Amino acid sequence: MTLEAAAGLLRCPVCAEPLALTSQGAACPARHSFDRARQGYLNLLRGPAPENADTTDMVAARVRFLARGWYEPMAAALSDRCLGETFAEAGAGTGHYLARALDDHPAARGLAADVSVAAARRAAKAHARMAAIVADTWAGLPIRTGTVDTLLCVFAPRNAAEFHRVLRPGGRLLVALPEPSHLAELRASLGLLDVEEDKDRKLEAALAGRFARESAWTSVRRVELSPAEVADLIAMGPNAFHGAAGRRPATAVEVTLALRVLVLRRLDPDPSAGPPARSPAAD
Ligand SMILES: C[S@@+](CC[C@H](N)C(=O)[O-])C[C@H]1O[C@@H](n2cnc3c(N)ncnc32)[C@H](O)[C@@H]1O
Ligand SMILES: [Zn+2]
Repeated sequence: MTLEAAAGLLRCPVCAEPLALTSQGAACPARHSFDRARQGYLNLLRGPAPENADTTDMVAARVRFLARGWYEPMAAALSDRCLGETFAEAGAGTGHYLARALDDHPAARGLAADVSVAAARRAAKAHARMAAIVADTWAGLPIRTGTVDTLLCVFAPRNAAEFHRVLRPGGRLLVALPEPSHLAELRASLGLLDVEEDKDRKLEAALAGRFARESAWTSVRRVELSPAEVADLIAMGPNAFHGAAGRRPATAVEVTLALRVLVLRRLDPDPSAGPPARSPAAD
């Protein structure tokens, strides 16, 4: 029962009081209760999943593609940069990167949060020390304040205020994002979405005041992908929502994989918490 990996980490999505794990799932002191699904995850969403939640087909494509190992250098880079013993991932998908980090950090436990039920089903089985919850990053994470040592966010929505809240003082945020040249060849030949220019700078602006950049890892390489791999790569990401699912080249193609990981440190205090207490004037 991997939900136990979330002990002491969850808070009620309704009233924000601590959630305690029970034999059925979890409950708060105000008696809001949430049943653990048969597949082992806990659904803490307060309504239906939004439209951009990954579907079962997208999740299956992601599982196949990630198993091919093309993103392994990034998985290793993320794992190498995890600190402490409590890891969480927002928009964790299948829990692939978190599971990789837990393999390398035997004393750590992990909490995978994703708005997609299909993804949470997979993540619940991804690792013996990983719990999976269904939660919307934009609605506020059902994670207790200051409990997370390292928070990962890989190609998923980033809520700076919430990331700041759940991390402990001095905690670490790892954000992975594509570089502008990522999959450039496919974008031209198969009409995929563009990677937003200047993503890095916009990200830092969004995190400013709450996080300071410590370092970055970048990898740009050209690899040869089979038509089936390209089809999965398209089907597992945002292009699947834009009519590109099912597109594939006739033969193997050379594709640029350009990935970046930003390593950020949580700053204290949170600027939205108001001005810091004034220290007495020195005289
Ligand atoms: C491109 S996938 C990345 C998944 C995983 N991090 C990986 O790289 O394998 C984006 C993920 O974010 C999730 N997602 C989208 N909107 C979300 C939200 N508001 N809150 C939480 N997860 C969200 C999707 O369901 C999907 O699993
Ligand atoms: Zn409650």
